[in-house]
Amino acid sequence: MMASVLVVGGSGFVGSHLVRRLAGRGLRVVVPTRRRERAKPLTLLPTVEVVEADVHDEATLRRLCADQDAVVNLVGILKGGNGDPYGPGFARAHVELPRRVAEAARQAGIDRFMHMSALKADAAAPSGYLRSKAAGEAAVRSALPSATIFRPSVIFGAGDSFLSMFAGLMKFAPVMPLAAADALFQPVWIGNVADAFVEALLRPESEARTYELCGPTVYALRGLVACAGEYSGRRRPVIGLSPGLSWLQALALELVGGPMTRDNLRSMSVPNVCADGCELPFGLAPAALEQIAPGYLGALGRPSR
Ligand SMILES: NC(=O)c1ccc[n+]([C@@H]2O[C@H](COP(=O)([O-])OP(=O)(O)OC[C@H]3O[C@@H](n4cnc5c(N)ncnc54)[C@H](OP(=O)(O)O)[C@@H]3O)[C@@H](O)[C@H]2O)c1
Repeated sequence: MMASVLVVGGSGFVGSHLVRRLAGRGLRVVVPTRRRERAKPLTLLPTVEVVEADVHDEATLRRLCADQDAVVNLVGILKGGNGDPYGPGFARAHVELPRRVAEAARQAGIDRFMHMSALKADAAAPSGYLRSKAAGEAAVRSALPSATIFRPSVIFGAGDSFLSMFAGLMKFAPVMPLAAADALFQPVWIGNVADAFVEALLRPESEARTYELCGPTVYALRGLVACAGEYSGRRRPVIGLSPGLSWLQALALELVGGPMTRDNLRSMSVPNVCADGCELPFGLAPAALEQIAPGYLGALGRPSR
């Protein structure tokens, strides 16, 4: 019986939605975080325990896995430095950490393990992000062959950092000079992603499977940015940059610690769309961005009271 779940990386955007759903089903959930403050809203949920812990430490992971029925790993970063095949930050967060978490789960006798990867993860992908996600999948599979792996396209919903970031930028920028404006995405709603994890946790047939997660529509990045502007009431002209200017923008933002790196740009050279259209697992119905995004992006555009 599934009674208790450890959600590593549970304090973030995906985690907070998933943890709420698990708690809503009466499951006990443990969420380790580097800073308890970051997971504060989750501490209000009655069956959720937020603990400050170093999840890179093997002894800590062994303690966290004791008495759990399942483990979910959601840890991920977008900036991991540069290097071949990937930068040191990606190696630590996307490869070494999942290996340690899966190994600790295996030693604790847990075989229900959910691992969050990314669409188009591939050892031969053009970015360190995607190559490290592929290495993380391989590390998890080798420690725990029964693990379930998810590969979503970009995820949207309340608290996202993608559409909300563009809406935030448009508050100040009169025009949006956009790198990789023709890059393709098939955004999937956070509610669908969280439901897919919950279903997989409860269904034995998800063992050893890899699921791609996409929404119903493919968009070019320029179209998504236009949506973010329209729904937040901050419509701005979007100006697609040439490949050379895109690279220069990414380099400049990387150097000042801005919201993009050259590695992110390389990730966007691969169409971020699902092989099987938008068929979600477990019979889930994919939600349209046009139905969901106006609600939470509209709130960003309204003055706070
Ligand atoms: N959001 C998307 O559109 C999207 C799309 C495809 C795939 N994904 C994948 O989905 C997962 C969740 O994404 P998200 O959007 O929820 O990310 P997020 O909001 O940034 O949350 C990241 C989580 O990972 C933890 N974390 C980050 N770096 C860490 C490190 N070095 N060591 C230990 N913990 C670390 C954070 O915990 P602390 O509380 O300790 O900070 C946080 O709980 C990631 O694996 C991401 O790659 C996301």
